[in-house]
Amino acid sequence: MISDHIFFILSACLLTNTAFLVVSQQHLTKISYSPKDQLTESKEWTRLAIQRLWAERELMGTTPIHVVFPIGMPNVKIVFKNESASPTGSLKHRYSWALMMWALLEGHVKNGTHVFEASSGNTACSLGYMCRLLGLQFTAVVPDTIELVKVQRIEEQGGSVVRVPISDRLVIAEQLAKSTGGFFMNQFKNAFHAEEFHESGSSTKKSANLMDELLIQLNHTPPDVFIHPAGTGGTLSSIGRYAKKYGLKTQIVLADTQFSIYYDYVLNGTFSKHTGAHHWITPGMAGIGYGAMGPAKIAETTSLDPAVIDRVLKIPDLASTAAMKAARDIGINGGTSTGVNFLAALHIGALYKTQPVSIATILADSGKYYETTYFDRNWIAQKFEFHGGLPIYDCWTQVIEKSFATGEDPLELGQKICSVQSF
Ligand SMILES: Cc1ncc(COP(=O)(O)O)c(C=O)c1O
Ligand SMILES: *[C@@H]1O[C@H](CO)[C@@H](O)[C@H](O)[C@H]1NC(C)=O
Ligand SMILES: *[C@@H]1O[C@H](CO)[C@@H](O)[C@H](O)[C@H]1NC(C)=O
Ligand SMILES: *[C@@H]1O[C@H](CO)[C@@H](O)[C@H](O)[C@H]1NC(C)=O
Repeated sequence: MISDHIFFILSACLLTNTAFLVVSQQHLTKISYSPKDQLTESKEWTRLAIQRLWAERELMGTTPIHVVFPIGMPNVKIVFKNESASPTGSLKHRYSWALMMWALLEGHVKNGTHVFEASSGNTACSLGYMCRLLGLQFTAVVPDTIELVKVQRIEEQGGSVVRVPISDRLVIAEQLAKSTGGFFMNQFKNAFHAEEFHESGSSTKKSANLMDELLIQLNHTPPDVFIHPAGTGGTLSSIGRYAKKYGLKTQIVLADTQFSIYYDYVLNGTFSKHTGAHHWITPGMAGIGYGAMGPAKIAETTSLDPAVIDRVLKIPDLASTAAMKAARDIGINGGTSTGVNFLAALHIGALYKTQPVSIATILADSGKYYETTYFDRNWIAQKFEFHGGLPIYDCWTQVIEKSFATGEDPLELGQKICSVQSF
């Protein structure tokens, strides 16, 4: 009889799942609930918070693209995904959304949680926005070198700002969260878990992945190359993972800053004595590169996943600063990472220019946040004195403009004629 019974369950299961449920339910122990057992109140807040984030995803829509054809590279097309057009003005809008969604799903953020974050400014502004949306208190721990205009953006979102030396950001944010019972979002560690790399599939809710959005804008023709630097590495990892998961032909290129350890971290899984914290030279490029914060450990201190990177480049900081100006002169008004991206894209374009090549990259935030720093000649002269100051800056600016006009490789040419020794 027992075997008959099992046979019945199995065949019912094969026929329909519902039938299986009906049969097996007879064998469940009855469970009684008392109102005390229910966690509905806090769950209800979380459910509403998630709903509000989805409404925000709708509102975000799609950031526009801006296409550039370098005059001297007739086969090369550079596509900038303009993240400065997001509601909080940078690529961090969609990534703060993803961090908050993750924190809600994991139960780290609940009704009344005070959220803390270590940031160079953009994440703080965007996360401040998400916190305000959910009625949560927010405190940003920022480097003491931060531009005033970035502090104002955070405060506009209702966030509080604590300035600390750049290398102490993570430790202090963690201490503050611990001592107040709040939650340290820790984008360096948690972007690795939070930033999604999935298609929407048949869901009406749109993926927040940048590559997913870009592919639709490119009529589902993947770019040949995608270029971006890394701060936390969350952005590039989410793009790289997406590209690998869905089998895109896109080559993923990390354009690293001069004294960052990421180049070595990706190439060798470690970093050589030639780069690293002990070798970090200020000012670096705000928001990107990894230097003064100790060793890079995946899902601990960085979210950069070397497994999805196909090529690494090293770009001199003063050259990237010059590239910000060269880009602005052709209508691309972007910040530090946009400068790196423009220069790296011209370099890759010059390498491949004999065949049609499409290069995608990011206009990550507006140049208007860097008027008093990377666009200010006095600031450049002072902060980049070690790198050769204005003569080297002007040399790189000319090289990049020339590369745009003639198709020459700007990195090769600049390294030849814009070295400190040449002056
Ligand atoms: C302007 C800008 N570009 C790029 C990045 C780096 O992005 P990610 O931290 O996802 O690597 C940042 C990080 O703050 C940034 O502010
Ligand atoms: C969230 O917490 C506040 C303050 O404790 C409370 O007034 C409110 O009802 C809570 N909201 C939900 C949806 O539980
Ligand atoms: C990027 O978006 C901003 C904000 O909408 C806009 O002002 C700017 O002109 C755009 N840049 C480019 C190069 O399209
Ligand atoms: C990577 O390791 C190799 C072999 O140990 C070494 O020759 C090379 O310089 C390293 N590269 C970097 C960027 O550290």
